[in-house]
Amino acid sequence: MLNLVLFGPPGAGKGTQSQKLIDKYQLVHLSTGDILRSEIAQGTTLGGEAKKLMNQGMLVPDEVVIRMISNKLDSNPNAKGFIFDGFPRTVAQAEALDELLETKSSSISGMIALEVNDDELEKRLLMRGKQSGRPDDANPEVIHNRIVEYNSKTTPVANYYKEQNKFTSINGIGTIDEIFSSIGNVIDQF
Ligand code: AP5
Ligand code: MG
Repeated sequence: MLNLVLFGPPGAGKGTQSQKLIDKYQLVHLSTGDILRSEIAQGTTLGGEAKKLMNQGMLVPDEVVIRMISNKLDSNPNAKGFIFDGFPRTVAQAEALDELLETKSSSISGMIALEVNDDELEKRLLMRGKQSGRPDDANPEVIHNRIVEYNSKTTPVANYYKEQNKFTSINGIGTIDEIFSSIGNVIDQF
């Protein structure tokens, strides 16, 4: 199985690259942000609780997203592999993911981190906020909070994979195709 963690700050291009990767490698795309937005759209209790935190740019509790990922792994028993996008975002989530995969005799193949500076991230997200309808893109203060959350709670996840020799970072600035090709070069070495 090819199990890839696509890592990077808000606006780094995780979702954009995931769309191309699922076609090329026939993987299942698991974006906790997308799953949470679909819960909000369906008006579920979980969605209602997550919405307040997401609209402020704060992470939702670990146990909520771990349960979501566990359900998605169970509902895709024949997958060739998964792209984890926006998950794990804390070390506790990374540990839980390893345990979940172990029960399926599988493991993470590697993490690929997209490096993009804060100015470019803010520019991309504000631009998308003009059309996307994502409330967390519409407000510069919320975008800033998302980047702060990332720097304090999520960056330690990179070390978790570095310690396992599973970490590679690439330049996330350039054309979408250039970045896609860099990701492909890393995957070829897994
Ligand atoms: P989530 O949905 O994961 O959002 P995010 O990480 O903040 O990142 P984005 O989806 O905005 O960015 P992306 O890296 O996917 O970039 P994209 O390809 O879209 O999370 C949202 C919220 O949900 C969190 O804040 C939290 O509250 C909650 N949540 C989710 N997962 C959680 C978890 N595990 N634990 C706890 N809470 C969780 O690209 C961005 C823009 O840039 C697009 O407009 C795109 O067109 C453009 N773009 C892409 N590539 C390029 C390029 N190469 N050049 C120029 N522009 C580009
Ligand atoms: Mg995304």
